[in-house]
Amino acid sequence: MSKIKTFYQCQACGYSSPKWLGKCPDCGAWNTMVEEKTSPGANRQGHTAFEKPRPQPLSSISGGREKRIATGINELDRVLGGGVVGGSVVLVGGDPGIGKSTLLIQAASQLSQRSGKVLYVSGEESPEQIKLRAERLGIDSEDIILLSETHLEGIIGTAADLSPGTVVIDSIQTMYTEELTSAPGSVGQVRECAARLMHFAKRSEIPLFLIGHVTKEGAIAGPRVLEHIVDTVLYFEGDRGHAYRILRTVKNRFGSTNEIGVFEMTDSGLMAIENPSELFLSERPQNVSGSTVVASMEGTRPLLIELQALVSPTNFGMPRRTCIGVDFNRVNLLAAVLEKIAGLHLGGMDIFINVVGGIKIVEPAVDIGVIAAIASSLREVPIYAKTVLFGEVGLSGEIRAVNQVDARIKEAAKIGFERAVLPKSNGVRLKDDLGLQIIGVDNVEGLLEVILG
Ligand code: TYD
Ligand code: MG
Repeated sequence: MSKIKTFYQCQACGYSSPKWLGKCPDCGAWNTMVEEKTSPGANRQGHTAFEKPRPQPLSSISGGREKRIATGINELDRVLGGGVVGGSVVLVGGDPGIGKSTLLIQAASQLSQRSGKVLYVSGEESPEQIKLRAERLGIDSEDIILLSETHLEGIIGTAADLSPGTVVIDSIQTMYTEELTSAPGSVGQVRECAARLMHFAKRSEIPLFLIGHVTKEGAIAGPRVLEHIVDTVLYFEGDRGHAYRILRTVKNRFGSTNEIGVFEMTDSGLMAIENPSELFLSERPQNVSGSTVVASMEGTRPLLIELQALVSPTNFGMPRRTCIGVDFNRVNLLAAVLEKIAGLHLGGMDIFINVVGGIKIVEPAVDIGVIAAIASSLREVPIYAKTVLFGEVGLSGEIRAVNQVDARIKEAAKIGFERAVLPKSNGVRLKDDLGLQIIGVDNVEGLLEVILG
């Protein structure tokens, strides 16, 4: 085999150097040199450079549906789009300690009953540690094969011999390939190891789960460098302080994105939560100002979430705006709309917005919830507790229609809400009000009248 040489390449401009440099001499960017390998005559697929790859006509490819294996954990299957696809690579990212290993050992237990052996490779924990965790979760199986190893070539060799039904790599940051000299966890190693594992999965048709820690910098050597390589990216979110964990699809070549799975971390592992709205509203205070419930769509699923605002006079200097769970710029924009259109004096006020339960909402349909919560807190008028809101707010104070209204109303009716405040144009097209009082509003003033009036 030809000797593999490595070099360092600037990720910003492509400049290459035989040695690592802190600053790229060409473009001047810092910390962008990443180790790459040159192996003359062979590319990653192992073809020599002279062997021509053969293209095929689309019609000659036998289609057939992809082979999906349900993991048996409903919330995980939901985010995967109905199960894991043979030969696909799923990256599960998240902060350390959030529960990635727990989730995957639980999934391994289910998968070992459905699709044969699961090879669980851990570069972080010894088999004894994994056994301890499994005992706590009540998992014991002779079909979960543990391997404590970080040497990639060895792992792929073992996996090929064992030919398991599923492979789990915990975590990609601890793996190293002997072809690169840089340390495990560096961008070069993480990327190369993932590419090799991807190739292994595709060739053997074995589904592969990769665990990746999100590093502080996020982008550097974290799962983000892998997002474009793998088929599916799931992020595990949630506060350490809260028991809820949210598994979010960021990318999925075999299903829809934007799905979420909700779990609760308990003494006996992660429990799937079938009805998250109830959980998120369980500790809601009654009759206090600044609290509203919004109906937000997460993928195909409506979620009712409590949104709180606290508006208080600024003590000195610039007013503060703090947002947890909603976009900061969006809140600033909505505060400006309230000030200009509805004439609320927010210039000398600090505004704090919080989405309860450690959830992040990205949908513009929560706009009127933010507006209502701010106005309610400023005026100190509570919003009737059994009201649910949704609708997008435009810069001139108009309230715009949102999609999937019927699903949102259905969820609200299920939880026992009595009143829905929504965009007027949505209200007229609603199929069934399911016993809720439907109030259509078309501008911010109208909205404030309804909720504070
Ligand atoms: P872990 O899966 O090890 O996290 P990660 O692999 O993402 O780093 O989970 C660690 C946390 O989960 C730890 O703080 C303990 C907690 N935990 C429970 O609360 N209950 C359990 O049954 C288990 C196994 C872990
Ligand atoms: Mg772990």
